[in-house]
Formats: sequence, C-alpha cells, structure tokens
Amino acid sequence: MSSRKFQIDQDITKASTPPSWVYTDLAFYDHCRQNTFSRSWQLIGDADLAKVPGQVHPFTLLEHCLDEPLLLVRDRDDSLHCISNVCTHRGMLVCEEGGVENHLRCRYHGRRFALDGKFVSMPEFEATANFPSEADDLTHVQLAQWGPFLFASLDPMCPFDDWIAPMRERIAWLPVGDCKLDASRSRDYLVACSWALYCENYLEGFHIPYVHAGLAGALDYDAYRTELHRFSNVQIGVGRGGDSVLMPPPGTVDHGRQIAGYYFWLFPNLMFNVYPWGISINVVRPLGVERTRVSFLAYVWDAKKLEAGAGAQLDRVEREDEAIVEAVQKGLHSRLYTKGRYSPTREQGTHHFHRLLAEFASESKK
Ligand code: FES
Ligand SMILES: [Fe+2]
Repeated sequence: MSSRKFQIDQDITKASTPPSWVYTDLAFYDHCRQNTFSRSWQLIGDADLAKVPGQVHPFTLLEHCLDEPLLLVRDRDDSLHCISNVCTHRGMLVCEEGGVENHLRCRYHGRRFALDGKFVSMPEFEATANFPSEADDLTHVQLAQWGPFLFASLDPMCPFDDWIAPMRERIAWLPVGDCKLDASRSRDYLVACSWALYCENYLEGFHIPYVHAGLAGALDYDAYRTELHRFSNVQIGVGRGGDSVLMPPPGTVDHGRQIAGYYFWLFPNLMFNVYPWGISINVVRPLGVERTRVSFLAYVWDAKKLEAGAGAQLDRVEREDEAIVEAVQKGLHSRLYTKGRYSPTREQGTHHFHRLLAEFASESKK
C-alpha cells in the first residue's frame, strides 16, 4: 500500500467509513503507534501505586505497543513524579522492583539519582568533561491526576485539561475521589481484532438491541444520545428508573434524566463507563494489528448497586461484543468489501472516532 492516509467527510450524511486496510495493514498499525499512541494520554493506574513518600513503582507504558519503561515516584516531599526508568549512562533499567527508597541507584555501574530523577553521583567519572549535565538527569514525563486516577503522556497531543474536562465536568457531582479498585471484579480479555475495531464497536449503541438482549432491557433505546467533544465523546444511556439509575442533581446538565450509564470514550483507547456503583474502566491495549487486550478495571463507590441495571453483567456484554468484533475482523479481509456508510442518527461516535483516526494518520510525527 503506497499511502496510509484516508479521509472521512465531516458531514456524516455524506461520509463513508475508513477503508478496510485500516484494520489489517501492519504499516498503518505502526503509523498509529508513532503518530497517535506515542502522543496520547494513557492511564497509569491510581495514586495508591505510590502511596507513601519514597515509594517507587516501575511500569511499562502501554506494554507491547509503546513499551516505554517509566517510573512513578512519590518523593520525600510527597510530590508525585513520572520519570524515565532508563539509566542515562548506558540504558539499564534503573528500578526493577517497587519499594520505598531514599534515592535511585542503577545496579549496572552504580549511578545514583534523587527520587525526582536528578543525577546525584557516578563512580569513575571525575575526568569526564562537561559532566554532569542536564542530560544525565532522568527525563520527566507529563503526569496528571483526576480523582484517584493517574495519567501520563510522552508527548501530549493536547493539554490534559482539554482532554479530560468534558468528562470531569459532566460527572463532577459523583464521588469519583472515593472509588476504590476492586481487583476481584477486574480482568483482561484477549480479542482477535484491531484495537480500532474494538473502539468503534464501543462507540455506538446501534447494535445494542441486536447483540445485547440483556442490556437492551436496562436502556431506553429511543432516548440514547451521543455527544461529541474534540478528543472524547460520551454516550448517555437513559434507564428505566428504580435503583439502577443515576439521578443527576439540580443545576447539572443532565438533571431530570435517569442515567443508566455514561459511556465516556477518550481518544484513542480509554473508556470510562460510569454506573450507579462506580466506574468500569476499559483500557484498550493494542498487541498487534489484529490482536488486542482489553483490561477491565472496576472502581467501586457503592457496592450495593453492583448487580443492578446497565452496569451489571459486564462480562456477558463483553463476550457478546467480542464475538461480533472478531467476526467483523474476518469480514474486513474480504476482497469484496472496502468500506460502508453511516447512520446519521446512531453512529455519530463511530464517525467522530474515524475522523480523529484520519486526522492523526495524515500527520507525521514532529
Ligand atoms: S547503565 Fe546505569 S550506571 Fe551504567
Ligand atoms: Fe456492545
């Protein structure tokens, strides 16, 4: 394939969906890693990962896709930092295990760094000219927090606040700061499809009556809405009342609606599903052109409501979605299919995602 560019008409009534090579072509996949994922905001986890002063938490940013070794550190003054975990001498990983430390020391040749990444000392370098310099410090990566959640970006495509604000403001009345990870309800799914296909399926409720019979009963399909923002969108699932809905208070934009679930998607690969019990986060992790791992993380603020409404039976809904997207992935290899058209009333979120994909595909990394 000669070009990895494609266009999606801004007008959904005129637009066609992306060409099927977007989901099957290795060069395009690599292009997305370089141009989209390397510039994205990614979820690290929550602030409990580095809870006490001196605590260090090594991690890999988006393993198998970005594979960037990073270190989350809470310094002795209680400030959080996200820094490179690669020694500025010859590239050893500085920290291989979490723990509580006074400083960081590379075990290859003994270079030391302060907990904020600043170079401290190095044996046998007395005669090295112009040493140390700033280049010998561990590079800082942008770190941001919303509620308990921490995010990092190597080279942000937009300021964190621009990216998060539509979600943060819409649910400011909910106790986001109080939710706690329930590891027993969290799990990973391996899906044989492109990461983009997984996302676009998530971005429309059009298939709910056809694919998710159980979920369809908890939602008022006619009242289902999608709202678009620059780098995110939200689907608002209106419910049928009772204990299984959120009731936004007076003064909020959704006051008067009975919300079964907010389905926030943040470009390119993060989903925050907000239910009466808390937030189910889906991190879509590309493993290869046609292989994706989706991590479901359950953050709970009201465990009594876990089994009711649209936020119940998430495992079943996920399996129904997997069966569909894995079949679509096969369909996209057809010689007889290249692209399709959109429903202007039901596929606004999918169209929005495709436009962002096309926008970043047409850019070359600085
Ligand atoms: S690689 Fe770290 S001290 Fe040499
Ligand atoms: Fe679905």
